[in-house]
Amino acid sequence: MGYFRDNIEQMKGYEPGFQPKSTEVVKLNTNENPYPPSPAVLKAIAEIKPEQLRRYPDPTGSVFREAAAKINGVEADWIMVCNGGDELLSMAFTAFCDKKRPVAYPVPTYSLYPVLAQIQGCKAIEVPFDEEFNLPSKLARTKAALTIVCNPNAPSGTVIETEELAELAAEIKGVLLIDEAYVDFAEQNCTELVKQFDNVIILRSLSKGYSLAGLRFGYAIAKPTLIEGLLKVKDSYNEDAIAIAAATAAIKDQDYFKETIEKVKAERKRLSEQLRAIGFTLPESLSNFVFAEHTTRKAKSIFDKLLERNIYVRYWDLPGIENKLRISVGTKEQNDTLLSALKEIAATV
Ligand SMILES: Cc1ncc(COP(=O)(O)O)c(C=O)c1O
Repeated sequence: MGYFRDNIEQMKGYEPGFQPKSTEVVKLNTNENPYPPSPAVLKAIAEIKPEQLRRYPDPTGSVFREAAAKINGVEADWIMVCNGGDELLSMAFTAFCDKKRPVAYPVPTYSLYPVLAQIQGCKAIEVPFDEEFNLPSKLARTKAALTIVCNPNAPSGTVIETEELAELAAEIKGVLLIDEAYVDFAEQNCTELVKQFDNVIILRSLSKGYSLAGLRFGYAIAKPTLIEGLLKVKDSYNEDAIAIAAATAAIKDQDYFKETIEKVKAERKRLSEQLRAIGFTLPESLSNFVFAEHTTRKAKSIFDKLLERNIYVRYWDLPGIENKLRISVGTKEQNDTLLSALKEIAATV
């Protein structure tokens, strides 16, 4: 007998996007925000007192809960802090899924979901999106204990309307987790659904909209009954004192946040237009990345040529998406470097 449980022995593990050591690269592969976090974040970190480090942190991050509750128009006990949205996903699998309680989600989507299913030893019911990334009607009929919809979806950047997700929440018997890691770049969110339904959990991340991927901070919004259940599977001190202070400062600085989001949206529009002008097709993105396919050139060959120029984008050699590149929206300068490289490559590959 090996040391590991069978499913761990047999699985491959999640492959995060490559994190190059050099800062001398154009890094458009892991959907980080290209702009720095609010100056209030660095101030909050600088003001940390030794006493805050000597003691254990507040287990529920109350100051953050209060601030996030205010912004989302709910009470503090509707919020739970997590060590990045990824921790909430992991907690949801632990809390809702096992051998007899499957998870379901439309595909292609965030590649962590099947990995968490393997770890948990639960069946993953993958329901394909159509070409336009519409919500597959079959998703409502899987009888899964946990249904996840990533909205905006990664890697497509596309959005499902709130009304359709409301219908899904009403139809299914299990929990609907709406992964809104990228929602800050969209025009609407699903906060209203947690008020209407007992079975909806919303995932939010500070990694993208708030430029804090390195901090590891996210949160759940749900009715207190669901939050209380999730708290049972949470690490006692899942967020440290520095992270709580920094994340609270970030979420309170809504002016800076809105300014950054508008800059990303403006660049997303320009990048999308320019990519189309050089022969790419891409769905309208409401996220901080685009999912592009060249009409004549192979994605893998474009990916390799970009790499030679120290430009990192994301490519998956997976059926259905093997000819697409996911490109994070960078600063104007980064996007210009990418576009001029792509123009050259498209002319020569
Ligand atoms: C769709 C989606 N959900 C959740 C996450 C988790 O983000 P984090 O753990 O950085 O908050 C990511 C990260 O890339 C993501 O792409």
